[in-house]
Amino acid sequence: MTDVSDMRFPSDFVWGAATASYQIEGAAQEDGRGESIWDRFCRTPGKVWNGATGDVACDHYHRYRDDVALMRDLEIEVYRFSVAWPRILPQGRGAVNADGLDFYDRLVDELLENGIEPYPTLYHWDLPQALEDEGGWTNRDTVDAFAGYVETVVRRLGDRVTHWITHNEPKVVSWTGYGQGRHAPGRTGDTNALAAAHHLLLSHGRATRAIRSVRPDAQVGITVDIVPVYPASESDGDQEAARIRDGRDNRWFLEPVLCGSYPADMVALLEPFLPAIVDGDMETIAAPIDFLGVNNYSRSIVRAGPEVRKPVSVRPEGGRFTNMDWEVYPDALYELLVRVHRDYHPRRLYVTENGAAFPDVRVHDGSVPDPERRDYLEQHLASCARAVADGVPLAGYFVWSLLDNFEWAHGYSQRFGIVYVDYPTQQRIPKESAYWYRDFIRQQAAACRAQTA
Ligand code: FCB
Repeated sequence: MTDVSDMRFPSDFVWGAATASYQIEGAAQEDGRGESIWDRFCRTPGKVWNGATGDVACDHYHRYRDDVALMRDLEIEVYRFSVAWPRILPQGRGAVNADGLDFYDRLVDELLENGIEPYPTLYHWDLPQALEDEGGWTNRDTVDAFAGYVETVVRRLGDRVTHWITHNEPKVVSWTGYGQGRHAPGRTGDTNALAAAHHLLLSHGRATRAIRSVRPDAQVGITVDIVPVYPASESDGDQEAARIRDGRDNRWFLEPVLCGSYPADMVALLEPFLPAIVDGDMETIAAPIDFLGVNNYSRSIVRAGPEVRKPVSVRPEGGRFTNMDWEVYPDALYELLVRVHRDYHPRRLYVTENGAAFPDVRVHDGSVPDPERRDYLEQHLASCARAVADGVPLAGYFVWSLLDNFEWAHGYSQRFGIVYVDYPTQQRIPKESAYWYRDFIRQQAAACRAQTA
């Protein structure tokens, strides 16, 4: 086991927890919220485990005050949540729903009153269905709609919110939502996936500009999910497969944002599927950002498949796995932090998501022991500490997730929270990992005080 007291982080390092609107809010038909693509997808038979929906989820829309109090008690310093676009603009553009803006206004005030700094994400996957009806992210017009929505939110909250995250995991939106159809809106094909990817990236650049035009002092970033990719063998074919998967999953998103171009080897491979890339697009996408958010849970192992473009995933043998069947591989986080810093040198990095699902249960005394999650967190924090020691400008860590919640196509079958949610009663019960995390944050704060004394 790692010795927690050996881990050192900068004194201004922030410790947080993350959630997303559709996964926790519920109140899907309340106060003028419009339909999102996830509302529609959940109602499409066979798409979501057990026919689950986010209609109620964790009922956070009504319980946000208690949830903020819970975070304060757990000594969480920063909170990453997302704003639901269909609450703000039910049709995606046009008429603003005042009640929707009011909700986030109250949430931000509540956080600040409790000493917790808000880090909102502007798009965590709940596109207004009205925009999907016009093509969604495959339609270039969605970029304008996003920039308009972002400006509306920043005008309202920008006097109190400093850190803004434009998008969450554009790769998952593009490939899982538009390429493979396993997420909303359930569309398929490489052409759709790559059009969505380009427009998401472009909308990130436009949003960055929009945020700065309203609040020149804002700190702006984007969250990408990075998965280190390993070849299943030393063979040339498998090594090529690893390069291609890395190109598609990691470099396709990092390079435009941080270098202003798509990776040339991948362009050569994907050329027939690319959308129109208009003059000026790449400059817009590469608008300078203040930080890069990275989400990481595991690693990938791939081998060559029948189609060069499509490496095949291989399940590692003998590893430890979470309930999602994701391998526990803490070195992945260290490696990616070092690599992103070395190859792309963003000004600052945050781990905006990291965590694990296990089949947690309440025991006879009502507590929720989750030693596997505690170990997972401890080992991944040790990876972060190693990266910091090696000079990576890592500025914060957000555990995924504050609460058990609606895990997309897996419905409520996966518990990622450090806090257990008893869905029938909506009772929140901090798991043992939550107390461990609180003590860890406390210990870090004490170490910093001792250092500066
Ligand atoms: C990430 C998502 C997040 C959550 C975790 C487990 O891909 O950003 O919403 O579902 O996975």
